[in-house]
Amino acid sequence: TSLKPYNTFGIDAKAKHFVSVDNINELTTVLSLNDYPNKLILGGGSNMLLTKDFDGLVIKLGFKGIEVVSEDEDFVTVKAQAGEVWHDFVLWTINNNYGGIENLSLIPGNVGTAPIQNIGAYGVELKDAFESCEAISMASKTMHTFTKADCQFGYRNSIFKQEAKGKYIITNVNFKLTKKDHKLHVHYGAIASELENEGVTNPTIQDVSKAVIAIRESKLPNPKIIGNCGSFFKNPVISKVEFNKLTENFSDIPSYPVSDETVKVPAGWLIEKAGFKGKTFGHYGVHKNQALVLVNYGGATGEEILNLSKLIQKTVKRLFGISIEAEVNIL
Ligand code: EPU
Repeated sequence: TSLKPYNTFGIDAKAKHFVSVDNINELTTVLSLNDYPNKLILGGGSNMLLTKDFDGLVIKLGFKGIEVVSEDEDFVTVKAQAGEVWHDFVLWTINNNYGGIENLSLIPGNVGTAPIQNIGAYGVELKDAFESCEAISMASKTMHTFTKADCQFGYRNSIFKQEAKGKYIITNVNFKLTKKDHKLHVHYGAIASELENEGVTNPTIQDVSKAVIAIRESKLPNPKIIGNCGSFFKNPVISKVEFNKLTENFSDIPSYPVSDETVKVPAGWLIEKAGFKGKTFGHYGVHKNQALVLVNYGGATGEEILNLSKLIQKTVKRLFGISIEAEVNIL
């Protein structure tokens, strides 16, 4: 089976065996198939680079459903199944006037994979609205509940990228959302100016979602048209000492405070300065509007994109002395 339709990079890698499961019973059955020791779980395929064919069983999670599990006057807890498309879920919350994840509009991927890397954008991270999730243990095939504390969320990080990596499959996620007095986050990036351009003075969550969609559409390539996985790299966190040294040579280097001793530097800026922004190498390259995004114009192999990412890492390291780490999973 070609995995091309199942990864947003549009890489034509093949899986020896492929199955789609729609509920926990089907998943448990498939996990118990001893004939296939090599298993790969697939959600929206929006955060992976396939560099070779997969000699095993690919399990695509198709669990669907969104339901309110409890509510009071101020808050609602909503359970969404792992196979729901993230943006469709966000739109569902917006339509119901439930606040909390409007800044996360239009992020590619599925609900079940969103906690793994604690997706984030425009000053909000998934963890801000996360209550708990359920996951099945691949070894024991039993269900476990992970509270927010259990998940150990960090910047593009969680327990599911650390000690629980490859050991659990998230089957559904509970979100705690506001029903009124929504806390808006409009001071990050271009949101405020986008709202102003639209003449919005008293924004609603609907307005914020619309603004985020407009900004993302103007900067980030639509994976349905140009293959990509969003940010390919994480923004590196460096010490203030190191940062101050860099400003001697690069006075315009941007940064965001992280702690008293550290700052985060936009990797997109480093990659642009290194000369890669908008560069194409035949059928793949670096996006013209956001240097953090590597793109497949059609027909690129995962290996070609991986090699480009290594060249970028090497060049950034040589120019700035900073190591940038891939955000996507390389398989
Ligand atoms: N910049 C450049 N050149 C570029 C891109 C960025 O100079 O080509 C500099 C500019 O100074 C710009 C700054 O970087 O002001 C920040 O750029 P942007 O607002 O696009 O955000 P980012 O730090 O590059 C992060 C996330 C994105 C998220 C945006 C908005 C990471 C790795 N990426 O990007 O997330 O949408 O902030 O919140 O943290 C993703 O994870 O896939 C993703 C798209």
